[in-house]
Amino acid sequence: MSDPVSNRILIVDFGSQVTQLIARRVREAGFYSEIIPYNADPARFADFGARAIILSGGPASVLNEDAPTIPAPVAASTLPMLGICYGQQALMHETGGTVSKGTAQEFGRADVTVAEDCALFDGLWETGSSHPVWMSHGDKVTALAQGWRVVAASEGAPFAVIENPTANRYAVQFHPEVHHTPDGAGLIRNFLTKVAGLEPDWSMASFRAEAIAKIRAQVGDKRVICGLSGGVDSSVAAVLIHEAIGDRLTCIFVDHGMLRKNEGAEVVSLFRDTYNIPLIHVDASATFLGALAGVSDPETKRKTIGGLFIDVFEAEAKKIEGAAFLAQGTLYPDVIESVSVTGGPSVTIKSHHNVGGLPERMDLELVEPFRLLFKDEVRALGYEMGMPHSLVGRHPFPGPGLAIRIPGDITPERASILREADAIYIEEIRRAGLYDEIWQAFAVLLPVKTVGVMGDGRTYESVCGLRAVTSVDGMTADVYPFDPAFLGRVATRIVNEVRGINRVVYDITTKPPGTIEWE
Ligand code: XMP
Repeated sequence: MSDPVSNRILIVDFGSQVTQLIARRVREAGFYSEIIPYNADPARFADFGARAIILSGGPASVLNEDAPTIPAPVAASTLPMLGICYGQQALMHETGGTVSKGTAQEFGRADVTVAEDCALFDGLWETGSSHPVWMSHGDKVTALAQGWRVVAASEGAPFAVIENPTANRYAVQFHPEVHHTPDGAGLIRNFLTKVAGLEPDWSMASFRAEAIAKIRAQVGDKRVICGLSGGVDSSVAAVLIHEAIGDRLTCIFVDHGMLRKNEGAEVVSLFRDTYNIPLIHVDASATFLGALAGVSDPETKRKTIGGLFIDVFEAEAKKIEGAAFLAQGTLYPDVIESVSVTGGPSVTIKSHHNVGGLPERMDLELVEPFRLLFKDEVRALGYEMGMPHSLVGRHPFPGPGLAIRIPGDITPERASILREADAIYIEEIRRAGLYDEIWQAFAVLLPVKTVGVMGDGRTYESVCGLRAVTSVDGMTADVYPFDPAFLGRVATRIVNEVRGINRVVYDITTKPPGTIEWE
């Protein structure tokens, strides 16, 4: 099958912290993009089949001796090119312009004023108008290479946007990829559609067709095992792989007893009954609870659950005759090769093992259909395949489950108290229509008892903590600003309906300095 996506965009990474955002903006504009570090094997740039190139920012100075340089095949390319920040400086420095050390670092918001028409501004910025952008640089361009001209400037950056339309090259000093540059996504889209003249052709429909063909080619007539957790990534992976190879996929769902209320039953009913996917459901809750007895250290809890999970999973997987592949929902952010922050040649490859070590132990090859997708693209693929919003739009849930939401000792009773409180909280959030506005919401059962009064009697019961955060990727998070009346309603219901809890508190800590989970 031929590649349904022909407009591939190459992003050359010079080590900026926000290079991933360039890939995101390009994908959002409807174009497939990949990030390749500037110091990768030059053949990779030539072989990529790019239709346009974006040079990222980076922390280095082009004036340093060992500064990263534009890879030779890219420098020689006549493809449309956009340089961002360090990318702009490298373009100038390497083609006859001048870059100088700034007297001060320019960091934060600046206003650029448009001096001339430019294809990047088409339908977006008019001559004479000013627009907020996000600057973050020390060095700056001080003289242009031949053929270039200034089309927009800011007070601190007289060369804020420059162009050389004859050579099809454009460059900006600021960062169009970050949210703090409100029109940045539009500038990137204009680069792709107006400058490069490309038609968007990246969609989840095209990805689905391509991914199915690839899975069929990789797996041949062998069998695949997929560990289902009830989370979005493994669920969408299972449905996609099932579409590709049918009943040669077997899912294994290990219930470790630390799931939310009704979660196990929902997973079984959805996959076995709705999707007709062969599913092995292992109720190992007693084994896990036994192993967790007396364990209160958070890291030991994680290790106990992770290790046992692999043992149980492996035992089940061994029963599936002819299984040669293990499916994993690894995502693009887990595999992007990142250039070290010093701009040096070291390259780190972050890898991700949902079932750590299992593929090697069992001699299974990996099927990772989402290696090049971002999380929200996996969600879009789920919708593309007609999967229900109740599953695809689900809040993330950690592998160790409720175990890391019960600080201190875990007992079946405490797990059951937490499950009830959590279910009430989520039910109220859904009822208020807030579920989709929140990245993650959950209850925590604290190992603290406090005094209360109910009816005529004194109570001495546990405290329940409520957490709700907004986030883009889980790396940073803000507290969700509930209306106090909403929180009051949830507290009343939890204390009235859940035996064992007599006080409810709301966690108002952002991340950082807090983490999202309590353990
Ligand atoms: P923290 O608590 O580190 O969480 O702010 C960030 C995101 O990661 C999830 N999380 C985990 N997921 N295994 C997982 O699969 C874990 O051990 C784990 N710990 C945290 C957390 O739910 C949040 O979405």
